[in-house]
Amino acid sequence: MLALVEPEVQKGNILPRSEEEMANTIRSYVVARDGERIVGFCALYIYTQELAEVRSLIVDEQYHNRGIGKELVRHIEQEGRALGIQTLLVLTYKEHFFQKLGFYTIQKSEIPNHKIWTDCIKCKHFPQCNEVALLKSL
Ligand SMILES: CC(C)(COP(=O)(O)OP(=O)(O)OC[C@H]1O[C@@H](n2cnc3c(N)ncnc32)[C@H](O)[C@@H]1OP(=O)(O)O)[C@@H](O)C(=O)NCCC(=O)NCCS
Repeated sequence: MLALVEPEVQKGNILPRSEEEMANTIRSYVVARDGERIVGFCALYIYTQELAEVRSLIVDEQYHNRGIGKELVRHIEQEGRALGIQTLLVLTYKEHFFQKLGFYTIQKSEIPNHKIWTDCIKCKHFPQCNEVALLKSL
């Protein structure tokens, strides 16, 4: 999983995730496999009983455009629903990908406070972040 994270961090597509951070949150990931090989993953990060975030969605470049990313997000949505989560948040540069999956773009000022104070505040781009925020009601 770390081998897939590193190039996407270099390209600026996702925020750095340390080995320790990924280990601590490993149970929050949904993984796509081709045989033994991990070819994609995505995490559900829970803020409150009502609000969670889609995090670290990555599909191996060789496996793009085969519906894997869409399927991973669908799994995350199902998990969220099963847990009673009402709203999913994502911060991303792939706005159109998430819009296709039913997410709608919001203003940065509408980003729930939980995100700002637990995560954004630690980011080197805060408060000048170019990512787009989207929500989806489950
Ligand atoms: C974004 C990403 C996860 C998409 O994964 P994927 O498996 O190639 O996507 P899918 O094949 O499931 O595509 C689903 C739909 O979105 C579209 N799509 C895929 N990538 C897209 C993009 N970058 N922009 C707009 N639409 C996109 C597909 O054409 C497809 O449309 P369709 O349902 O009408 O056929 C993948 O490109 C990736 O890993 N990118 C690098 C990491 C990244 O930016 N992650 C997002 C962090 S939040």
